[in-house]
Amino acid sequence: MEKKKFYITTPIYYPSDKLHIGHSYTTVAADAIARYKRLKGYDVMFLTGTDEHGQKIQRKAEEQGVTPQEYVDKIVAGIKELWKLMKITNDKFIRTTDDFHQKTVQKIFKKLYDQGDIYKSEYEGWYCTPCESFWTKTQLVDGKCPDCGREVELTKEESYFFRLSKYQDRLIKYIEEHPEFIQPVSRQNEMLNNFLKPGLEDLCVSRTTFNWGVPVTFDEKHVVYVWIDALSNYITALGYMSEDDSDYKKYWPADVHLVGKEIVRFHTIIWPAMLMALGEPLPKQVFGHGWLLLEGGKMSKSKGNVVDPVVLVEKYGLDAIRYFLLREVPFGSDGVFSNEALINRINSDLANDLGNLVSRTVAMIDKYFNGVLPEERQSGEYDDDLIKTVMDAAGMIDDMMDKFQFSNSLTEIWKAISRTNKYIDETMPWVLAKDESNKSRLAAVMYNLAESIRIISILLQPFMPETPEKIWHQLGIENGEYTTWESSKTWGIYPAGISVKKGAPLFPRIDVKKELEELEKEIEKKASEKPQQNKESSKPAAKAEAEKPAGKELITIEDFAKIDLKVAKVLEAEKIEGADKLLKLKLQLGDEVRQVVSGIAKYYSLEELKDKYVVLVANLKPVKLKGVESQGMILAASDDSNLSLITVDKNIGSGTTVR
Ligand code: MSP
Repeated sequence: MEKKKFYITTPIYYPSDKLHIGHSYTTVAADAIARYKRLKGYDVMFLTGTDEHGQKIQRKAEEQGVTPQEYVDKIVAGIKELWKLMKITNDKFIRTTDDFHQKTVQKIFKKLYDQGDIYKSEYEGWYCTPCESFWTKTQLVDGKCPDCGREVELTKEESYFFRLSKYQDRLIKYIEEHPEFIQPVSRQNEMLNNFLKPGLEDLCVSRTTFNWGVPVTFDEKHVVYVWIDALSNYITALGYMSEDDSDYKKYWPADVHLVGKEIVRFHTIIWPAMLMALGEPLPKQVFGHGWLLLEGGKMSKSKGNVVDPVVLVEKYGLDAIRYFLLREVPFGSDGVFSNEALINRINSDLANDLGNLVSRTVAMIDKYFNGVLPEERQSGEYDDDLIKTVMDAAGMIDDMMDKFQFSNSLTEIWKAISRTNKYIDETMPWVLAKDESNKSRLAAVMYNLAESIRIISILLQPFMPETPEKIWHQLGIENGEYTTWESSKTWGIYPAGISVKKGAPLFPRIDVKKELEELEKEIEKKASEKPQQNKESSKPAAKAEAEKPAGKELITIEDFAKIDLKVAKVLEAEKIEGADKLLKLKLQLGDEVRQVVSGIAKYYSLEELKDKYVVLVANLKPVKLKGVESQGMILAASDDSNLSLITVDKNIGSGTTVR
């Protein structure tokens, strides 16, 4: 019989300098679902990837003096490493810089243009570069981006538009007729009431002021708006509109797009409207989960370090981190990440409850039965209640996993673990062992313990990639017929007569006080070594900005000699259209004339600048700012409210070296 298909996606990630534990949240959740579905026998397609185009990336690359491609390549390699470390089982990884993806985006854009769903006009409005979002004046909050609260830029440019407004009524109808489409339900109401019902405007879908994007084939000075480019990934990855579209035919429509709550809007309005325009079916569900926030207390001061998933995995182990992410916060709600909560969970749930249960059981079978468990079944009050609790967990989990209720699923599994620990206290095997006549009772107790652990270990598989195998090794069973998902639904199939093997503790206990002190020290050390990644904020770490380092590391005179500083005379200064902070300067350096763009418009008038002698970094790689080439950078001192150019205080010729 042909297997049932299941297609799940995460958002494709912006290649920001470092992914933090919040980013891992969507991916770990998607991985748990993918693993669960595979265990249930589905033919799973699990897609993740990176969203690499846009003005933000182009600017960052310019700041670092590298090409955007060089910039993204390095970061994407790091992201792939992180998913490997976290044992993410994605079947495909798409990059929006992949050639096949770009070609299909171009075909999609052309098709929509040819059929009149995309048209040319002029865009005038506000743009938030960090969010890559367009806003109308009335949507701004205190003149700032309503999503992230940062500055927006007034943009006016020739643009192509997508007829989003045309799809408004169909979208409302679709959402109302398919209550399962947007989950959780609260997000559905938000989309309907805040966006769809007040009315949709056509969407600006091309840009001309930068070029790091997919070019519009029939008008090459335009690049496709990043969200149109990015959302298309879910179908381009399957070969949509390509020579081999067999995966598209097989897996589309997606069963679920898992996304953070701030991007539900793009996935439930723009994306379905695009698909409607293309005449393709809509994804069955978009699930918007909550944010993992950082604690406002002491630990968060330098959280740039502590929320690094690589550090966490190396320190506490992968399964502990994955467990914490999925247990601590009900999927859909916001939750707080703190080291203390993590360590407490590791100690109580993992080391105490699960780890001890396994090691005690194996040690007792070893001691009382030389490691080989005899077949013995008995039923009595404790046995029946144990079996019921464990079988309830196994019975309920599928329904919960189908609804992405990870925390509830783990709570049920832990009820079974606690019940099994209680069974040891109730049956007191060490007392039974004192009397030979209790041997068969003792054997039955051991059997029940081992069987309960077998079932628990199977249920843990979607969440923990490493621990179940370790448990099977200790129980003496191979990954096979006694470890299938189905086999967790039947009590009593643990094969007696096999040898258990004592092993290392599954989760070593952590001394909370010592660990938190050590972490503090590490954080302080790291904070003095490198810039922090994230600022304290009540927003998700994703939205936090890099803090400035308190001081910079020492350099040698050779390092300094690499910078070619020259005195330059300002010949002309001129405003740049559409960029109210920038000025274009013509500078004289001896015989040479240079063009430099500088962000000093708010502090100097054009007349004031003329004939000034300033200091220029003359060997900086040229970059384009707002489409204007800048061949170097002039030096200035600035604080939050003021800026002063560095000038020379005696008459000295332009082109003179500053050393
Ligand atoms: N590139 C877009 C998605 C395009 S999909 C066609 C994007 N990328 S992102 O890198 O900013 O975010 C990727 C995912 O990480 C989002 O689902 C986002 O919600 C999630 N998270 C980032 N920080 C988060 C937390 N602190 N907590 C939970 N998830 C958050 O958006």
